Amino acid sequence: MTAPTYLADSLLAQDRSNDLRRHTELYGARPATDESLVDAVVRSGLLGHGGAAFPTGAKMRSISGRTSVLIANGAEGEPLSSKDRVLLDRSVHLVLDGIAATASALRCSDCYLYAPPESIATVRAAVDERRRSGWDRTAVQVRASASGFVSGEKSAVISAIEGGPALPRDKKISASVAGVRGRPTLVLNVETFAHIALIERRGPQWFLSRGTESEPGTMLVTYSGAVRRPGVVEAPLGASIEDMLVRGAGVELPSVRAVLLGGFHGTWASRHALIGRVMSQESLAHIGSRPGAGIVHVLGAGSCGLTATAEFVRYLADESAGQCGPCLNGLPRLADAFSRLSIGQDVDAAITDIARYTRLVDGRGACHHPDGTARLIRSAMSVFADDVRLHRLGSCEIHRGGTR
Ligand SMILES: Cc1cc2nc3c(=O)[nH]c(=O)nc-3n(C[C@H](O)[C@H](O)[C@H](O)COP(=O)(O)O)c2cc1C
Ligand code: SF4
Repeated sequence: MTAPTYLADSLLAQDRSNDLRRHTELYGARPATDESLVDAVVRSGLLGHGGAAFPTGAKMRSISGRTSVLIANGAEGEPLSSKDRVLLDRSVHLVLDGIAATASALRCSDCYLYAPPESIATVRAAVDERRRSGWDRTAVQVRASASGFVSGEKSAVISAIEGGPALPRDKKISASVAGVRGRPTLVLNVETFAHIALIERRGPQWFLSRGTESEPGTMLVTYSGAVRRPGVVEAPLGASIEDMLVRGAGVELPSVRAVLLGGFHGTWASRHALIGRVMSQESLAHIGSRPGAGIVHVLGAGSCGLTATAEFVRYLADESAGQCGPCLNGLPRLADAFSRLSIGQDVDAAITDIARYTRLVDGRGACHHPDGTARLIRSAMSVFADDVRLHRLGSCEIHRGGTR
């Protein structure tokens, strides 16, 4: 079963559980938290849900000191993702429980929830209700996130919380050592906090009973593109991708040309490559892919992978903060070259430029934006190698008005 959206203890409550009474009926009261929460999270094997799947327990352990700061990152700058907005809309108290538990275990002195403007009213109402009812004394400061793809990057979030621009900055020192105003800062995705809330209640063994042995738990997934059922579901790690596409997203497999996993900084995978693969770091690593923040975007048969990628690369180039060389000089050139490739104009030179600039930008920015863009481009050039050949020959049926 792909999408046990309404399991007991699902992150996404069947109905909106945004009043405390309903939330308590669904999940029960919070136990008293102590420092052992950090051990429980370490033992649970929880991996972060902001995209990079870093072990959450290790991040929590790296925070110490009485002046530490906690940030719940709900910016969700990725256009193909809506899981964080849906989570804040449906289960805001679970996120706030995770924040309260973590703040108490780590003795954080300041807590922030960085959320998109459309979620602010819901989040503020929930924070007020908790304070009024005495449910929790954690003072959570709610901040509206800036728009834009890079605004959710950790150092951009820290800068915005400090009152600066929501742009990534050079991070020679880790946020866990010197983040907000030089204080140790823990930045976790809002979904990660919701998992922590359930681990605090049910324990690490319960968490380990879901998902796979090496990657336990569940993840929120956003389906988009050529699917019958776009939207957000909760799936166990290790769910069959074919099953997710068919039973979750409602597609017929022959209608799938390729799937973009992990969003604009993710990778394309052909339908054929996904046969027998499951939603986990381990399984997807075999095809050079990863689940990222749970984005599953389907490209239909008869669509040109190069055209789709050209649009994404242009978007990524436009969204760069333009602060570092690779973004300022490299990404616009990559977007131009990819656009030429996609429309079949001067294709050989475009291919040479794509290879050159992909190499030049990779790993050279202050943040991972150029790396993510390079990853998307490399996967497109490999998965859509047939399209590249047809565009070179000038015989792409799609661009002649037909379908393939
Ligand atoms: C360009 C870029 C954009 C990002 N945007 C987001 C975002 O919108 N939300 C998010 O939680 N993490 C985002 N991240 C990842 C964060 O930097 C950070 O790693 C994450 O919030 C940590 O949470 P986790 O440990 O729970 O995964 C982004 C990273 C990059 C490089
Ligand atoms: S690499 Fe790009 S997005 Fe990242 S900080 Fe530099 S200019 Fe900004």
